[in-house]
Amino acid sequence: MKILVTGAYGQLGSTIKELSAQFSQWEFFFTDADSLDITDEKSVAEYFHKINPGFLINCAAYTAVENAEADIETARAVNTVAPGVLAEAAKESQAGFIHVSTDYVFDGKSPVPYRETDTVNPLGVYGATKLAGERRSLEVNSDTIIIRTSWLYSAYGKNFMKTILAKSNEGSLKVVFDQIGSPTWAHDLALAIVHIIKHSEEVFHNEIFHYSNEGVCSWYDFAKAILSIKGRECEVSPVLSSEFVTKAKRPHYSVLNKQKIKKTFGLTIPYWRDSLAECLSSALLDKH
Ligand SMILES: NC(=O)c1ccc[n+]([C@@H]2O[C@H](COP(=O)([O-])OP(=O)(O)OC[C@H]3O[C@@H](n4cnc5c(N)ncnc54)[C@H](OP(=O)(O)O)[C@@H]3O)[C@@H](O)[C@H]2O)c1
Repeated sequence: MKILVTGAYGQLGSTIKELSAQFSQWEFFFTDADSLDITDEKSVAEYFHKINPGFLINCAAYTAVENAEADIETARAVNTVAPGVLAEAAKESQAGFIHVSTDYVFDGKSPVPYRETDTVNPLGVYGATKLAGERRSLEVNSDTIIIRTSWLYSAYGKNFMKTILAKSNEGSLKVVFDQIGSPTWAHDLALAIVHIIKHSEEVFHNEIFHYSNEGVCSWYDFAKAILSIKGRECEVSPVLSSEFVTKAKRPHYSVLNKQKIKKTFGLTIPYWRDSLAECLSSALLDKH
């Protein structure tokens, strides 16, 4: 089977590429904005006709949460309209479609981890455009599987873990402790996606699933863990979100309930600190 991965230079796409050699039964095609702009409907249709994939994993997204507040049109084009175009193309090719979404579809007012069926209420443009992209994909293609994830990090691209490491030589950092969630190592999510594709025949599609690593922390705890595991000397002060001026509002609590994905696919999910330690020990970190 041929698997098309869009947004392949990003964190998740790069991780799937790194792992793809382990899955030689499949032929992978990796594209990013330079080779397949997912907002270009004609290019998407042509690419599908040329490759005829059996599965599409959409890792492409407009993920700059702050910039999205001012760049609404681009965020909408990439996060809302394009997933619908991909869903349609996948439907015409009778390909399975996995689309990745976010915990930022929630407003953070829940006192308990969010289930897939809980009320959504995004606080910013990024979350709103991603939510609209979920809905469009599910409407267009009944073979769509949506995976919402949170706090993604990896050796690739830009992410919180790499920012903390880069800033650790400043000697002191302020990090918010009133936003609670679950970090997700892109490696674990990529393996979960592969597992889902392997079992996709047995699964009822047109469904949303939640996936993050196990456990819960604040960004402050996450920063402390990164520095502690790496043995870096840097003072970290816990601060309130209100002490930082940001354009985008973020949920104070966005922990995802993962019972559904674990039960449906028989997945065992690693604890966030164990995965963080593994990621931080990877030689890849020095290369990217
Ligand atoms: N990062 C997180 O903390 C987080 C949290 C929850 C959910 N998610 C979701 O998880 C998924 C993967 O996130 P990620 O962190 O791997 O994202 P990422 O690192 O920002 O990668 C996204 C990729 O999509 C590409 N892209 C943007 N516009 C495109 C277009 N028009 N056509 C084709 N490619 C385009 C980007 O290219 P450029 O860099 O050139 O724009 C980038 O390579 C996304 O759906 C995201 O919304 C992420």
